[in-house]
Amino acid sequence: MMLPSVRPVLGRMAFSLTTSVSSRGLKTLKIGLIPGDGIGKEVIPAGRHVLEALPAEDGLNFQFVDLIAGFECFKATGVALPEETVKVLKEECDGALFGAVRYVVAWSYILSQIESPDQAANSTSSPTTKVAGYSSPIVALRKKLGLYANVRPVKSVGDDRPVDMVIVRENTEDLYVKEEKIWTLEDGTKIAEAIKRITEKASYNIGKLAFDLAVQRGAARSTSSIPTLHSNGPIVTITHKSNVLSTTDGLFRETVRKVYEDNVEKYAGVNVQEQIVDSMVYRMFREPEIFDVVVAPNLYGDILSDGAAALVGSLGVIPSANVGDTFVIGEPCHGSAPDIEGKNIANPIATIRSTALMLEFMGYAKPAARIHAAVDAHMVEKKISTPDLGGTATTTQVTEDIIKRL
Ligand code: NAI
Ligand code: MG
Repeated sequence: MMLPSVRPVLGRMAFSLTTSVSSRGLKTLKIGLIPGDGIGKEVIPAGRHVLEALPAEDGLNFQFVDLIAGFECFKATGVALPEETVKVLKEECDGALFGAVRYVVAWSYILSQIESPDQAANSTSSPTTKVAGYSSPIVALRKKLGLYANVRPVKSVGDDRPVDMVIVRENTEDLYVKEEKIWTLEDGTKIAEAIKRITEKASYNIGKLAFDLAVQRGAARSTSSIPTLHSNGPIVTITHKSNVLSTTDGLFRETVRKVYEDNVEKYAGVNVQEQIVDSMVYRMFREPEIFDVVVAPNLYGDILSDGAAALVGSLGVIPSANVGDTFVIGEPCHGSAPDIEGKNIANPIATIRSTALMLEFMGYAKPAARIHAAVDAHMVEKKISTPDLGGTATTTQVTEDIIKRL
């Protein structure tokens, strides 16, 4: 089946802090680049090269600022996310690209934090041990910059198995509040706990973004001549586990539903569905073509999007955008991939698509569409591919081929 290649415009807002217009009439956007660790350092330059190669007719010029974060940064400076990085992003940048970071906390370190039963007994509020240390900078950045949504489009191209869905993952809470503790019981065995926090506010925000996106995708499809998988109108699938976690996931479910009920007219054409997360996984692999917009709490959204990556061949092609009301960070869904780092074989497509998503959310639909079209054309041809997609090409060769098609 020939797949739809409708590229709904996701962006809602053209926000810009530092935009200036050059003598050639080009707007200058300042983009923060945070490569992080591992293959982050190999794929972020690909995103930069693609932005630099956009033609003048798109009206944009780019200035880049190199910023640090991650495990290597932690080893060198003692912090995983320097204040300076956050400050420059907040005060100087119009948008940013984040690569990936290594996330390691040695189990021996965790063990060193455990209170002995004696200490615990003397402690005023036993059990108390909270594990500190290295902490993921991207999780912190999402919170510090108010990037409450992680938008992850998963779409096949050409005659691959048809998939055209967007996973809208809550980005600031759930188990990612990282309030964990561990202590020793009187019998000498250990026990660990983590807080799963769901707020009405974050759930409402993410629900609203999901419904708005569904309406936008539906509108874009209805004016396109390209066949669509979703001809019966937009669908929002609320994913949760409220049959077991009836309070936390229950609040998520009820709140996302309330977004719809509060705006019935605006979302009139949207088909609201629900799926318990385990059966969501099953159905996503059995019949991925039925899903359009999937909205989920943080952890389920993370897991679902890595799973969805398998439907379209590789984690190396799935982009994301961390979106707030005034800022956006493009970020490939994959991690630092230590198994392939330093070999120039990481697939740069996830990052290049994230670059396009960043532009879309900044309000620059035209250059974004140009990048998406170049990537799709490159992928349909299947001539120059990195090993994750069965080829032998390098990161550099794939990037060059996409740039040629811009
Ligand atoms: P991963 O995403 O780094 O790798 C999983 C598998 O996919 C590996 O076999 C890897 O080679 C492959 N892969 C990933 N991206 C690829 C690309 N662009 N091209 C070709 N192949 C690609 O996940 P893993 O191995 O679980 O984690 C490695 C490190 O990354 C860990 O320290 C983890 O904590 C961290 N991580 C960081 C994330 C972030 O910065 N947002 C997200 C996920 C993991
Ligand atoms: Mg992940």
